[in-house]
Amino acid sequence: MLKIGVFASGGGTNLQSLIDAVEAGCIKGGHIEVVFSNKPGAYALKRAEKHNIKAFCIEPSGFKSAEEYDKKLASEMNRAGIGLVCLAGYMKILKKEFIDGFKGKIMNIHPALLPSFGGKGMYGLRVHEAVIERGCKVTGCTVHFVDYGTDTGPIIIQKAVEVKDNDTPETLQKRVLESEHRAYPEAVRLFASGKLDIQGRRVRVVEE
Ligand code: GRF
Repeated sequence: MLKIGVFASGGGTNLQSLIDAVEAGCIKGGHIEVVFSNKPGAYALKRAEKHNIKAFCIEPSGFKSAEEYDKKLASEMNRAGIGLVCLAGYMKILKKEFIDGFKGKIMNIHPALLPSFGGKGMYGLRVHEAVIERGCKVTGCTVHFVDYGTDTGPIIIQKAVEVKDNDTPETLQKRVLESEHRAYPEAVRLFASGKLDIQGRRVRVVEE
């Protein structure tokens, strides 16, 4: 059984989509073992508790560096036997100290079609503002594996969303978020069933 750890700093609607998918039996061979946050007040922690999933927070202020923090996090995840880490609105960039121990086992979801509109500072409404400002007709979401860069890892799934003439960043964010809630469970389902094959920058879905 694949043990999944979800990292979230905020509201956790993507976490909710993963919880719902597991409970509906859509992610065969996997379950959410733990939900972790760097923010004590994150609503994501409450969502986990409501579903009887272990939820905990470690505040970064008690650590002398981000590296030390990530070492602690890696040891917690190893102790829990986590085989897949899903970043779901986790607003802290993971350091090498964490990534090295979970190669090919960390996923992230981004609210745009990477490699466009990604990287440092591209989060939340800023992404959708930038998409509208640039005049894009299509945007969407990307689920990708995490490497040392920000939003640069191998792409697993993308879903396209039309940009409408009257869209505001808020209306666009809402529709992109709906696409995220379909994409993330699908990516995790494929991982849990051993269907994802990473070859360099490309991720192939092994025939189902
Ligand atoms: C999502 O838009 C996700 O793509 C990004 O952070 C947001 C998290 O939203 N990485 P939620 O907390 O899952 O509702």
